[in-house]
Amino acid sequence: MNIRLARVDDLPGMQACNLQNLPENYTMKYYLYHILTWPQLSYVAEDEKGRIVGYILAKMEEDLTEAEEPHGHVTSISVLRSYRRLGLAKRLMVQSQEAMATVFRASYVSLHVRKSNRAALSLYRDTLGFTVKEIEKKYYADGEDAYAMKLSLKELA
Ligand code: ACO
Repeated sequence: MNIRLARVDDLPGMQACNLQNLPENYTMKYYLYHILTWPQLSYVAEDEKGRIVGYILAKMEEDLTEAEEPHGHVTSISVLRSYRRLGLAKRLMVQSQEAMATVFRASYVSLHVRKSNRAALSLYRDTLGFTVKEIEKKYYADGEDAYAMKLSLKELA
């Protein structure tokens, strides 16, 4: 499975993958905004026929307060069911994290994840080393709480 930078013509495939995998969905305009604004940060995993089987949609956080350091944010990541546990999500995360640090001097990366999402939590905490910064009550539309997580990128910069 190949991992490469996402391009504008990948966006329908990324959106289809997102719709299959997650209840948090986004307009095409929002995907485009990511790719046009931070073209270095979003990646896709493709099969041997070039079909998109996973993606990471990522950005730099905007509207920082004076106290905040520049940091990246993972808007969404998912991998199609039959391609899971092959290390694709880990590779997508690592590629994006490296670009956040080297291209944008991000000092850390943040994300939100459902408290009940065992697979993603294990990926972030156990495999990648994220820690829980806080619990955001009723963050999701259905009322579930989120863990707000972060990982320092200082050693990559
Ligand atoms: N149960 C427990 N641990 C898991 C699981 C699981 N089902 N899946 C992954 N992990 C952990 C393991 O530690 C794994 O390492 P190992 O296989 O050596 O044990 C490690 O994560 C790396 O796994 P990958 O193979 O890289 O992960 P995968 O490609 O399967 O994708 C993902 C993981 C993205 C969470 C996938 O299950 C998925 O698409 N789920 C549905 C969508 C989703 O929940 N996305 C995240 C939402 S939060 C957000 O987008 C910011």
